Amino acid sequence: PTTGNLTLRYDAVVRQDLSGLYGDIRKCLSETQATLVPITQYYFDGEGKAIRPVITMCLAKAINYHLNVTSPYAFCLFCFHLIIYVIDYITICSFNKIRSVVEKQKKVAQIVEMIHTASLVHDDVIDAADSRRNKSSVNMVWGQKKSVVAGDFIVGRSLELSAKIQNQEVINLIAKIVSDLVSGELMQLDGSANAEERFQHYMEKTFKKTASLIANGCQAVSVLAGANSTVQTVAFQFGRQLGMTFQLVDDMLDFVSTSAQLGKPAAADLRLGLATAPVLFAAQKFPELNQLILRRFNKPGDVETAFDLVHRSDGLEKTKELAGQYCDDAVTQLAQLSPSPYQQVLFTLTHELLDRLK
Ligand code: FPP
Ligand code: MG
Ligand code: MG
Repeated sequence: PTTGNLTLRYDAVVRQDLSGLYGDIRKCLSETQATLVPITQYYFDGEGKAIRPVITMCLAKAINYHLNVTSPYAFCLFCFHLIIYVIDYITICSFNKIRSVVEKQKKVAQIVEMIHTASLVHDDVIDAADSRRNKSSVNMVWGQKKSVVAGDFIVGRSLELSAKIQNQEVINLIAKIVSDLVSGELMQLDGSANAEERFQHYMEKTFKKTASLIANGCQAVSVLAGANSTVQTVAFQFGRQLGMTFQLVDDMLDFVSTSAQLGKPAAADLRLGLATAPVLFAAQKFPELNQLILRRFNKPGDVETAFDLVHRSDGLEKTKELAGQYCDDAVTQLAQLSPSPYQQVLFTLTHELLDRLK
């Protein structure tokens, strides 16, 4: 895969765990009618940042370490026994247990990436997008109908994989991700008519559309590690705050990055009729924006006016500031786990997500 803006892409601590990610996904999607295969595999081309699987696996390892599922002692013991060919029955048993936990956690990382990508396939149909990651969008190549079916197929396959983990709690969390994604997208389509409730509506939509996937994915890997409810909450809250940071920054970048940087059209949200955090903050200084928000920027000149008012307000600074608060909270959650190399990577990654340019 090419190197993205994130220097921690496939960071060393999870590189091995994720090296087969796209191969596994493509294989999982290959057993079907020949026409579906290229459509469902189209966005699994290794060009994505794979940020969600990286977060999921790093968090999984940080939790495993915290709970001593993978103590350095156990690992050293395993190496020692391997080298001298003296197989200690107990060590092998505990190694197998660790391996099976990590294998299941890797499945969660794969499921998270599959559901995310399925939602992008459907999203590109809904948004009538013409490009993603600097190539034609799936709907442009195969049309709406086949793209919708392809998205459904990816979700279906990811649910089959969830069942293979054989853990009821994990299945519940994954099902919640799917229903939150749908409900978040619907909240976005409907918007909020009431100006007072608009910000809260936007934040709830943001959780459901983006943060729920990371939060529930993080909780699922903690469940597999045998975490108690306190540690599960830390995992969920870390994922939640990180997801909120990610989306707030995304909404800000829509106003400041060029389309070449984003690999998709810039200022797209306004054109789609969406009022995100920068516009909602800008409306506090320029109340005339509320009219435009209500009519979803559908009159000629609305998009340009709103774009201009956002840049003349402190909407972008305030969005970054809010993202910074979520980022700090994600760090606070993470700090509750024992210090480990995985935790360190997540600290860096959290700050990189806040400061990214694309
Ligand atoms: C990208 O948003 C889209 C999402 C994060 C989720 C979209 C969810 C659905 C379409 C519901 C269907 C869900 C499933 C599981 C099939 P965006 O349009 O703001 O981002 P973009 O700029 O990358 O297009
Ligand atoms: Mg879109
Ligand atoms: Mg969309």
